[in-house]
Amino acid sequence: MTYIERMKGRVINLRKKEIVTILAIESSCDETSVAIVQNGRKVLSNIISSQIDIHRHFGGVVPEVASRNHILNIIPLVEQALDSAKLKLSDIDAIGVTQGAGLVGALLVGLTTAKALSYALDIPLIPVNHIKGHIAANYIAFPELTPPFMCLITSGGHTAIVNVDDYNHFSLVGSTQDDAIGEAYDKVARILGLEYPGGVKVDKLAQGVEPKIQFVHNDTLANNYNVSYSGLKTAVINYVHKLEQKGEKLDVPQICSSFQHEAVDMITKKVLRACKEYNQNKLVLAGGVAANSYLRSSLTEKCKAENISLYFPPLEFCTDNAAMIGSVAYYQLLTEEPADLNISALPSISLSNN
Ligand code: KG4
Ligand code: ZN
Repeated sequence: MTYIERMKGRVINLRKKEIVTILAIESSCDETSVAIVQNGRKVLSNIISSQIDIHRHFGGVVPEVASRNHILNIIPLVEQALDSAKLKLSDIDAIGVTQGAGLVGALLVGLTTAKALSYALDIPLIPVNHIKGHIAANYIAFPELTPPFMCLITSGGHTAIVNVDDYNHFSLVGSTQDDAIGEAYDKVARILGLEYPGGVKVDKLAQGVEPKIQFVHNDTLANNYNVSYSGLKTAVINYVHKLEQKGEKLDVPQICSSFQHEAVDMITKKVLRACKEYNQNKLVLAGGVAANSYLRSSLTEKCKAENISLYFPPLEFCTDNAAMIGSVAYYQLLTEEPADLNISALPSISLSNN
């Protein structure tokens, strides 16, 4: 029997098992993480090694440096995740791994490790879309949360409003036409001389500052659910350059606050409109920018007024982690075939084509 034939058989048996224990690996960008998750909801361990201090010197993530550090981290993290869960490799039922989106070299480290574990232990390999992972972070935080719901995905690489029809089916309502919201945060931070990772710094400096600057940008997408962050980002950059040319001092907290209000208001208006049009009374936030204090507070207030139940993950599950990948892997295992060992990393995969 070939590997894939054996794995298909194993998956059928696992679907009948009361408790399925998945070891999950995440290495799409600058965090290496290994987690052990049972039945998609119960996290036994979730070990994260962040490379922020390494990449800070370069002002952003250097892909090759990220890959090399994932290689150094990955096996010790597998061991730590098992130790922390008080389990052995023989207790693991399946391996979940981020297949994309992300940096190709970084993804390949996790994927190769996952394939090796799958082959050596003779257990199924489940490739996971990273963005599905960010959505699933909410399943871990809220045991009562089940699809369908409306989801606002705001990450470093994606900005989208999606209807989550069930655990594995999504329909896109709107998305960014250019930059992702996190990318806009990071670029604005950079022009203001703030250290990588910039989004969280902009958020901190903006706190308690009343926004006063109007960054003029053409919102040609006002009547649909798509957004553009490139125009807003350029408006901030032009504003900063003009002041610098005149030799005037920059009011950095004011710029952060004005940018943040506009960036968040643009998307929250649309997602609330989408909830109404699609008759959804549950709204879920996902992705790194879901950690943003203004996004959280503004939607908390607006959802309360509109009678919409709002869910967002605790801060530790907003950033990249393997527990969220383990959650997706479980729900995929219930309905989808396992992967063969010849799968490759998918650096630019979107939500809809998985
Ligand atoms: O979801 P994520 O890991 O990216 C992708 O998977 O693509 O999120 C990283 C992004 C970065 O752009 C970072 O600057 C942003 O999330 N971010 C924030 C905050 N915390 C992280 N942006 C705004 N406010 C924050 N508090
Ligand atoms: Zn992410």
